[in-house]
Amino acid sequence: MKIIRTVAEMQAQARQWRREGATLGLVPTMGFLHEGHLSLVDACRREGCSQVVVSIFVNPTQFGPNEDLDRYPRDFARDEALCRGREVAAIFYPEVAEMYAPDASTWVTEETLSRPLCGASRPGHFRGVTTVVAKLFNAVLPDVAVFGQKDAQQSLVIRRMARDLHFPVKIVVAPIVREADGLALSSRNKYLSATERAAAPAIFRALSEARRRHAAGERVADTLVSFVAESIAAAGGRVDYIEVRSQTTLEPCSDIAGPAVMAVAAFFGRTRLIDNVLLD
Ligand code: PAF
Repeated sequence: MKIIRTVAEMQAQARQWRREGATLGLVPTMGFLHEGHLSLVDACRREGCSQVVVSIFVNPTQFGPNEDLDRYPRDFARDEALCRGREVAAIFYPEVAEMYAPDASTWVTEETLSRPLCGASRPGHFRGVTTVVAKLFNAVLPDVAVFGQKDAQQSLVIRRMARDLHFPVKIVVAPIVREADGLALSSRNKYLSATERAAAPAIFRALSEARRRHAAGERVADTLVSFVAESIAAAGGRVDYIEVRSQTTLEPCSDIAGPAVMAVAAFFGRTRLIDNVLLD
């Protein structure tokens, strides 16, 4: 497995693999890998990728000034071992200075899907995400890139960006991987105290019950939202947002007439967790 630290070396390696007839997959990550990330590697293989690159880059531009950039968990040795175990061809592991020139002044912004939900709570977040993902696409030159459904809005934003900017990359979204008690896997789960960790599965329990009520015929979004909000508050969580929106356009739905996503962001202690379920 190669560890590649510069864009030039990554591009040269990608071109060589392409000359050899490989199909290239990219799994963009910020490291501190878990089974959720590794399931994205598996999804690349299912898409026919013969060489899979995992990028590990804690992207400073997608963190707000009071967010967790400085304490974001990092463990490259462990990440490297996990990638080897999944037969990843290369880890693209650039420094910040390699990805952003000191006078960088070019940004990629998506201006519709990135506005609500996490876009409203975390101003500038998606500008950082779309900019870095565009850079990663240009560095790794993938045929396929896989993102996780846990970041449902991010996946939609990136799919839109790839379409609008004609990136020749197939965007694939892989299902959420959960702990046995339902908590969605996230590198940020590491921040949770034992008490917070015990309480946090309340998010998925409430979302699952909302999905059951929707399947049983409930179509009023506010009724489902109130139920989820009360359940999370009862478990000691502080809701950032709970919304029901169209699965494709992220337009709000008050009466749920078509495929929708119920998305949650909630704090347990200082840790902000996100999760969602599809209401089909
Ligand atoms: O989902 C993430 O881990 C990040 O937002 C991504 C896509 C790697 C961009 O930094």
